[in-house]
Amino acid sequence: MANIQKILPANVPGEFFVDKTCIDCGTCAWLAPDTFADQNGMAYVFRQPSSEGERMRVHMSVLSCPVGAIGSRMRQGGPGAEAHLPEPIDQNVYYCGYHSAKSYGAASYLIRRPEGNILVDSPRFAKPLIKKIEDLGGIDLMFLTHKDDVADHEKFHRHFGCRRILHEADIGRETAHIEEVIRGDDVQSLSPDIRIIPVPGHTAGSCCLLWREAILFTGDHLSWDSGKKSLYASKHTCWHDWSRQIQSMKRLSGFSFEWVLPGHGARCHLPFDRMRVELAGLIDRMTTTF
Ligand code: SF4
Ligand SMILES: [Fe+2]
Repeated sequence: MANIQKILPANVPGEFFVDKTCIDCGTCAWLAPDTFADQNGMAYVFRQPSSEGERMRVHMSVLSCPVGAIGSRMRQGGPGAEAHLPEPIDQNVYYCGYHSAKSYGAASYLIRRPEGNILVDSPRFAKPLIKKIEDLGGIDLMFLTHKDDVADHEKFHRHFGCRRILHEADIGRETAHIEEVIRGDDVQSLSPDIRIIPVPGHTAGSCCLLWREAILFTGDHLSWDSGKKSLYASKHTCWHDWSRQIQSMKRLSGFSFEWVLPGHGARCHLPFDRMRVELAGLIDRMTTTF
C-alpha cells in the first residue's frame, strides 16, 4: 500500500498520489497517461482524473503497479477495476496488468485460442487475475520472451499445469526445469499462426512471438517511445550485445506486423506499411546515432 507519509512532492493536490517507493517501471504513465507522468526517474500525478474513464485507468494502475506505490487519500479501492483486467487489445490478445516487481514491472499478455491459451511472460500471481484467467480458459503454454521477465512462472506452472518455453541461452538456475527449450537462431512455428523469432541482443536468448502475422510480442527487444512517437530499443539496457540486437532488428524487417506489445515501454499499433517505415528508421538510428 502506498504511504502518504512518503508522498513525492511533484504530485498535484488531490485524491491520488505516487510515493517514494516507485521504481519507475513506466507502467502507470502509459496505462493512465492523462494522470501520470515521469519526472526525475519517478512517476507522479500531474493531473487528477476528471472522468469515470480516467478514474478507472488510475485504479487499473493501482492494481498493476508492481510495488504498490500509487495511493488514494480516500483509501477506497476501485470498484470494478478488477473486472477490467485482463484488458482486451485485439485478435484475442489481452493485456494482463498486475505487474511483478520480480520482472521490474514488465507487462504480460494472454492469447486466447481454442487450442489452448498462451501467457506471454509472467504477471504477478495475484488472486483476482488468476480467477479471471481461469474464466478465460486457463493457460496451456507460457512463452517467456527472455530471462528478465519470468517472475512468478513457477506458480503459474503449478496452478495451471502449463508448459513453459524459453530459449536455452537464457536458462538459469531458476528456470532450469522448464518444459520446452528453444535452441539456435532459426525461426520456429508453434502452429500455423504462431512463430517464434529469436532476437538475441538485449539478452542472448531473447525471442519475439508473432501472432497471426499481426501482433509481435517483443519482450525488451523493441518498444514504442510515446514521447518521441517512434519505435525504440534501449542500448542502455542492452545486457548482451548491441550489435547483435541491431542484427536482430534487421531480421524483424522480414516479417509483417501492426502491433508491438513490449515488456517495458508503451505498446503501439500502426498500419503495416508505417510499421515497416518506423522499423527501418529505428535500425538507421541504432546503427548511426545511438
Ligand atoms: S506503476 Fe508504480 S512503480 Fe511503475 S512507474 Fe507507476 S508508480 Fe512507479
Ligand atoms: Fe529485459
